[in-house]
Amino acid sequence: MIDQDFILKSYNSKVERGSVKWSSPSNIALVKYWGKRKNQIPENPSISFTLSNCKTITEVTYTKKKSTEFSFEVFFEGEKNEAFKPKIQTFFERIESYVPFLRDYHFNIETSNTFPHSSGIASSASGMSALALCLMSIEEDLGVDYADDYFNRKASFLARLGSGSACRSIEGELVVWGKNKSTESSDLFGVRFDGDIHSNFKDYQDAILLVDKGEKQVSSTLGHKLMYGHPFAKERFLQAHDNLDKLKDILSSGDLKEFIKIVESEALTLHAMMMTSMPYFILMKPNTLEIINRIWKFREENNSNICFTLDAGANVHVLFPKAEESKVYDFIKSELVAYCQNGHYICDSVGNGAKRL
Ligand code: DP6
Repeated sequence: MIDQDFILKSYNSKVERGSVKWSSPSNIALVKYWGKRKNQIPENPSISFTLSNCKTITEVTYTKKKSTEFSFEVFFEGEKNEAFKPKIQTFFERIESYVPFLRDYHFNIETSNTFPHSSGIASSASGMSALALCLMSIEEDLGVDYADDYFNRKASFLARLGSGSACRSIEGELVVWGKNKSTESSDLFGVRFDGDIHSNFKDYQDAILLVDKGEKQVSSTLGHKLMYGHPFAKERFLQAHDNLDKLKDILSSGDLKEFIKIVESEALTLHAMMMTSMPYFILMKPNTLEIINRIWKFREENNSNICFTLDAGANVHVLFPKAEESKVYDFIKSELVAYCQNGHYICDSVGNGAKRL
């Protein structure tokens, strides 16, 4: 499919008002997206587990209007929110040619997260995917009839233009984004991983340890830009392709030891890219490293399959098979919680994607 396939050509502009509501999850990448080209095209493919509990719930009410300016208000957790508006304005500008009714209506966007706002958890994946899905449902209200497949693809295509990783939040349980030789995928939208998934990876657990709940010093958007002219960029992009090929086989064979190697190496490589860009920066905190070392020790001593991954921040995602759930939570409570800000962590697991409410 190409960009043009996502342009909405005609719709019933007589519809006066309506309301749609979606819940959309966050996701955690196993092979990381870091570096992009113009129009939110990723430099390398990525794959993620869709999460289940960390979600954004968004309701959009639309009312026909006369003026041709974009018009919208945002309410976050019940309160009017000005801070989110510029990002949504940019999103509307980027997607306008695919969703031409944006100027015909005023939108009231009411949104809330199931996870604490100041948790350092990126809400852009769940937030932008929920908004994209609402716009897709409005398209349907305006009389466009979509097959499920196309609906999800266009929702993911639009979400990508809001935030790259958001395109991996529409479906579950594993989603691939970015062209590569081993899976059916596209640079324009995320698709469900089409390979076999061994039972070891069913219902995989993710305990998110909140090490630092503050705003991070360097945004992902800036971090992506620093991959231009980065001395290791070329090798890194090739490595991501290679890791995705390997992960495809691992997901089908159920080899947990090999899974751990790829996932931890991807997390550390992501942070190594940050530390070797110009300007360089470090998003890990001393407690991030403390937790990583304790995970390694616990794994060694208990013959466990626990491992970690990181996104662009200090928080640690602790990944483990369902079968180890009680053992790992005992470990988290007795040892790791001491390194979390105010002892906070979130229990999550792999989920099935967004839902219309
Ligand atoms: C480190 O999707 O937040 O989480 O496209 O600029 O919105 P933008 O960036 P974003 O980048 C996320 C990067 C990551 C890795 C990943 O999720 O693959």
